[in-house]
Amino acid sequence: MRDLFDKIYKDKGPLGKWAEQAEGYFVFPKLEGPISNRMKFRGKKVITWSINDYLGLANHPEVRKVDAEAAAEYGSAYPMGARMMSGHTQLHEKLQDELASFVHKQSAYLLNFGYQGMVSTIDALVSKQDVIVYDVDAHACIIDGVRLHLGQRFTYKHNDLESIEKNLQRATKIAEQTGGGILLISEGVFGMRGEQGRLKEIVELKQKYNFRLFVDDAHGFGTLGKTGAGAGEEQGVQDDIDVYFATFAKSLASTGAFIAADKEIIDYLKYNLRSQMFAKSLQMQLVVGALKRLEMLRTMPELKDKLWENVNALQNGLKENGFDIGTTQSCVTPVYLKGSIPEAMALVKDLRENHGVFCSIVVYPVIPKGLILLRMIPTASHTLQDIEETLVAFSAIRERLENGTYKRLSASVSAAMASKE
Ligand SMILES: Cc1ncc(COP(=O)(O)O)c(C=O)c1O
Repeated sequence: MRDLFDKIYKDKGPLGKWAEQAEGYFVFPKLEGPISNRMKFRGKKVITWSINDYLGLANHPEVRKVDAEAAAEYGSAYPMGARMMSGHTQLHEKLQDELASFVHKQSAYLLNFGYQGMVSTIDALVSKQDVIVYDVDAHACIIDGVRLHLGQRFTYKHNDLESIEKNLQRATKIAEQTGGGILLISEGVFGMRGEQGRLKEIVELKQKYNFRLFVDDAHGFGTLGKTGAGAGEEQGVQDDIDVYFATFAKSLASTGAFIAADKEIIDYLKYNLRSQMFAKSLQMQLVVGALKRLEMLRTMPELKDKLWENVNALQNGLKENGFDIGTTQSCVTPVYLKGSIPEAMALVKDLRENHGVFCSIVVYPVIPKGLILLRMIPTASHTLQDIEETLVAFSAIRERLENGTYKRLSASVSAAMASKE
């Protein structure tokens, strides 16, 4: 028999094995100063393109004031206990009602965290006889929720209608045998590449197949749709989403999340969501803070307008300068370049140190080998000056990538990586 920790001593995991080269810089970087379009990284000001503060609320003076007042009034303990037992309050209910009305649903229920809430909601919605059909590029919280499922599950090719239909057919056959139902899960916006889930077409498939649609709209809430109700509203199918999910971690710039659906479904989930039944209620300061943020989403459409002005300026500027931004249909702005992981590291270092531009890199295995994805999140707090400077920087790094500068600079990293492969 082996010591449980043996494997940990030998293998740090697919990301952990690069800790020595990457930690503190490419992963676990420390961005300092107030959350904004320009923050400090290693003592130097950088334009920040990696923070999901879409509407610029994180450091908005009105939000900061309400957060501070709520913290002073309630502290961080209140209320104590799970919602069902002793952690329920009028303000939790008020926030739920306002969230439900904002996303045009009958009812809503608060979750402490988006990730855990998604896992738990999937768990509560399905029993062993049911079948789950979901996008192969789903967020980790969907994958982990599906992992809890004791029945059958099928992935479909990313946003591929033919594959969705084929898997609905397979799921239908099984559900007919087991006597179960089908849950189809999509994201409203896929957070890496920015494509919207094909909700309109998926909803059309309801004419042919019997399934319920669950949408994780983390990136669509507050950014898409006429009233900010998300990807479903944008595509004109909000009413056909059976269960809607969004987190507070992006447009609302906070912590917490919610699900919304018909009253009867939320009433069921209230009594069956293990992540909420067996965990302390969402803190009051977060509830009060979310009420303020939601009011601002409702009453300050200029925040979303400014966001989209910046999204369009950045995305058009990149395209005009010949950059490949893939097939994004949202604020998420990916820039695809060709290169190895060591080249990507040298490139990002150059961007940060010499151009003062901070964005995240995504490489294999999240995207195919040989591609580098620079993932940018424009927000309402960016300026056209930020965008102009970034476009100049991007043209410079592309030239250096193409003339082999990063290949030369990264030779030692390449050698170190080869020894770890
Ligand atoms: C698509 C998606 N779902 C769920 C989550 C998890 O939300 P939270 O940060 O509230 O746990 C995220 C990330 O924040 C996300 O991008």
